[in-house]
Amino acid sequence: MTFFVRTAGTRDLEAVSLLLGETWHATYDGIYGLERVSEIVRSWHSVEALRPRVTRLNTEFLVADDGTRLGGMAFAAFEAERKLVVLHQLYVHPDYQRQGIGRELLAEVEDGFPGAERVRIEVEEANTGAIAFYVASGFEPAGKSEACGGDTRFAIPAAIYEKRMIWTG
Ligand SMILES: CC(C)(COP(=O)(O)OP(=O)(O)OC[C@H]1O[C@@H](n2cnc3c(N)ncnc32)[C@H](O)[C@@H]1OP(=O)(O)O)[C@@H](O)C(=O)NCCC(=O)NCCS
Repeated sequence: MTFFVRTAGTRDLEAVSLLLGETWHATYDGIYGLERVSEIVRSWHSVEALRPRVTRLNTEFLVADDGTRLGGMAFAAFEAERKLVVLHQLYVHPDYQRQGIGRELLAEVEDGFPGAERVRIEVEEANTGAIAFYVASGFEPAGKSEACGGDTRFAIPAAIYEKRMIWTG
C-alpha cells in the first residue's frame, strides 16, 4: 500500500482521533501507565479537541492516507515573530512505522512554512525511538520543558529538540 500526505479535513477527525489513541497507548502506556494515557488521550485527542485545528491559521494539519485508512498524522503551527515552526504532533500508527511515513510527514511540514528558520519539537526522553527519528532527521537538543505542550494539567517533562531550516533557491 502507498500512503500519500494530504491536508486533514473535518471528515478525518474521527480517524485521526482513533489513530492518536492507539498510537499513544502503544507508545506511552509503558512509560506513563494506561490510566494516565487514557486521561491524556481523552483530553487532547478527542474529535472535539482536534476540531479547531482544521481551521486554525498558520498551521499544517496533515494525514498520511492510503485511500482506505490513515497511517499517520502531523500538526504544526508557525510563530511568525520567532520564525519558528512548532511541531505539536507527529504520529505514525504502530502497524506502519519504519516505512518512511514519519519522514514524509516531516518533509511536508518543513515545506509548508517558507521563511521559517527553525522547527521545534518536544519529546519524552524515554521515547528513544522518536529521539532516534528526530536525530536522524537533523534535530539537535535545545533544552528542556517542564510541561509538554505547555499543558500544566499533566506536567509531562520533555526534551526540546530543534532543527535549523536551510532554504535554497
Ligand atoms: C517517531 C515516528 C514519528 C517516526 O516515524 P516512522 O514513519 O516510524 O519513521 P521513518 O520510517 O520515517 O524513519 C526515518 C528514519 O528515522 C530513524 N528512525 C525512525 N524510527 C526509529 C526507531 N524506532 N529507532 C531508531 N531509528 C529510527 C531511522 O533512521 C529511519 O530511517 P531507516 O528506517 O531508513 O533506518 C513514529 O515511529 C511514531 O509515531 N512513533 C510513535 C509515536 C511517537 O513517538 N511520536 C513522536 C512524538 S514526539
